[in-house]
Amino acid sequence: MGIRVRFLIMMGILSLLALIALGWSSYEFSRRAAMDEAKNKAEIIFKYLMAQRQFYKKDQSPLISELVEKDRFYPSLMSGFVATRKTFDYFTNTMPGFVLKYASTNPLLESNRADNNELKMIKSFKTTPSMKEMQGTMTKNGIDFFYHAIPMKVDNKKCLNCHGDPADAPKDQVEIYGSTQGYNWKMGEIASTLVIYIPISGAIAQAKQSALILLGIGAGGLLFTMFFIGIWLEKGVVEPLEKLNERTGEISLGKNLDQPVPIKSKDEIGSLARAIDRLRISVARMLTRR
Ligand code: HEC
Repeated sequence: MGIRVRFLIMMGILSLLALIALGWSSYEFSRRAAMDEAKNKAEIIFKYLMAQRQFYKKDQSPLISELVEKDRFYPSLMSGFVATRKTFDYFTNTMPGFVLKYASTNPLLESNRADNNELKMIKSFKTTPSMKEMQGTMTKNGIDFFYHAIPMKVDNKKCLNCHGDPADAPKDQVEIYGSTQGYNWKMGEIASTLVIYIPISGAIAQAKQSALILLGIGAGGLLFTMFFIGIWLEKGVVEPLEKLNERTGEISLGKNLDQPVPIKSKDEIGSLARAIDRLRISVARMLTRR
């Protein structure tokens, strides 16, 4: 195999490996950056929601209980869950794609029913009580999401006023939500999780696109470099070697001994040319001596 072919194969393989490494690391880098951003977003939204719930619980709820007649129940006024859910609905009017869900195995509101993934989260929280949160990525209805979930424990007897026996629940609540589901929760039980879904499909597509652009630029740059190195190899190494080869053949046959071997460069090929020229002179001398 000639130097040309060997060089091209070697450069081709190495360049391909370098390109794959470049494209993959660029994709990984952008994907991780997108993931970190999604994580930050989830954390900020979560903390803000928790602050809203705290405000509801500490400041609004006591006042509302004083003002509203006993046994009346207005969900928007008297459930922190409704308050955060509805606030989030307004939030998604301007920030579409984000999802907040109070997922439960036995919900009052049917749309809060846990799907398969959420059931798995609830199960993990149940079996590992020390687990305080869970994060990761998942595909939901064909859309990629980063999710952040926390367990929701029935940690207060007051919860059972509304989620215990339906006979004890506020009448208005039973009227709105019915009495067939969302009741008979047990103290200390984890049957729900609060999950925030941050859409990441756009960021992942962008990571793929920037990796492809980098791959394109890298491939162009490598082809360009290979082309110039190829020309240099042809002109600087292969052609001079072929000429020297031809001249050495002639000298071995005693042909054209009066023509000096041209020495063009000061590198290894130049010194080879010089050596062959000395050989030519020696052969010429030997032949004239005879
Ligand atoms: C004053 C009544 C009331 C109290 C007290 C109450 N909840 Fe609720 N809860 C509701 C209502 C009403 C909903 C339905 C909310 C909606 O429409 O989104 C709800 C919804 C939920 C949900 C979402 C799943 C579902 O059932 O739709 C969870 C989880 C939940 N509550 C947990 C709790 C916990 C834990 C406590 C105690 C810290 C508690 N709730 C106290 C009335 C109450």
